[in-house]
Amino acid sequence: MHAQSRKVYICSNCGESYLKWQGQCRSCGSWNSLQEKSVGRVAVPSVELTRATQAGQLRRISTKIPELDRLLGSGLVAGSVILLGGEPGVGKSTLLLELAKCGHKTVYVSAEESLEQVRDRCERIGAIGEHLFFIQENHVGSIISLLEKARAELVLLDSIQAVWQEGGRGFSGSLAQIRECAQLFIEFAKKKATPVIMTGHITKDGQIAGPKLLEHAVDVVLYFESTLTGQERILRAVKNRFGHTGEIALFEMTSSGLKALPEGHYLIQVEQTGGIGSILFPQREGQHILPLEVQVLVAPSGFTSGRRIGEAIDVARIHLIAAILEKYAKYRLSQCDIFVRIRGGAPLSEPAGDLALLLAMASSYLEKPLPRKVAAVGEISLTGEIRSASYVQERLKSLVRLGMERVFWGGTPNVWGDIQQSFFVHVNQLLEEVFA
Ligand code: TYD
Ligand code: MG
Repeated sequence: MHAQSRKVYICSNCGESYLKWQGQCRSCGSWNSLQEKSVGRVAVPSVELTRATQAGQLRRISTKIPELDRLLGSGLVAGSVILLGGEPGVGKSTLLLELAKCGHKTVYVSAEESLEQVRDRCERIGAIGEHLFFIQENHVGSIISLLEKARAELVLLDSIQAVWQEGGRGFSGSLAQIRECAQLFIEFAKKKATPVIMTGHITKDGQIAGPKLLEHAVDVVLYFESTLTGQERILRAVKNRFGHTGEIALFEMTSSGLKALPEGHYLIQVEQTGGIGSILFPQREGQHILPLEVQVLVAPSGFTSGRRIGEAIDVARIHLIAAILEKYAKYRLSQCDIFVRIRGGAPLSEPAGDLALLLAMASSYLEKPLPRKVAAVGEISLTGEIRSASYVQERLKSLVRLGMERVFWGGTPNVWGDIQQSFFVHVNQLLEEVFA
């Protein structure tokens, strides 16, 4: 064993630590909040080589929700810590209770609601059973010492913002408190090899930075989002040390809890896509193909330069596609307002959505309809060339299942499918043929 001493600088607001002093905390942005702390003499253990074949394997338990197991990468890993974030009211607590149906000995820690409330909800969704235990408490030390003795196989915490620790930096619910409390649950999970799932509230504009702050400390980060329409919910894995990120699972909120929706379920009425300014884009979300409707309205502007307004899309993409149409097709879009709306539950995030956006924009500008049951896939380069996208086969399969009759592709992908296919390599060629 070697020994060494060191100094660290800890932010009194959020608890982030640094090796050097600095005026502003990079993590939470507060000024002059770093305080020097000596961590004394630290024993440095000697390390050993482990043969790859002798390293232990991950132990996993099933949640009994196949869609969720798939999202996690075939079940919950023993000792893993999962952050379940989402806006208030989206259904985080309800999802925890669905997990409580897994049949393993489960402790539900309610720090926000009374046990009467939790029990009532449990009964409504059929989660009550001999394997399920409750703790109603906000004090972390008391919760952890009870959990240490409980021999639980799964711990559910609702929510990380509602627990507190005495002597902790900052006030209850502050960033520093959230971080320190989460650390205690992480230590518990690792020590007892028990998976812990904790909920955290976030708002749409990321106002409450608390759960965001925990992203690097936990093993898995899931975000629960409601779609603009209806009762469907999207659960998205934004970080996963034990599986793929970018995966999604779809759920539906019913009067008796959350029901997982099968793969291939879609959130828009695809037969309504098409017409003036509308087309379908099959977006890849993990292993899912999620059909999105791209809607565009191009209208004369009352302003000297037109506005670009987007819903569920980065406005820079609207500017770019508009500039491409101005440059190559000589459309006079600078005097027009352009409104874009993406429907289907997720924002348009793939570059392969360019072609759909361009077609919908051109259609609205020209006031010429696009055919119904048609989809478009392709990325557009700054030179006006249309490139082929990845996952062509998966998208094609999904389009056939959706009942689409035709697809416009960028480039010349070599695919076979039971659907009419058209290939385009340049924007000018595309516009001439589609709007002839
Ligand atoms: P909840 O899980 O409390 O949301 P969160 O914990 O994210 O704040 O659920 C929010 C909404 O879901 C609530 O308005 C009621 C509704 N709900 C149902 O529709 N069906 C159900 O079975 C349950 C339990 C809740
Ligand atoms: Mg809740």
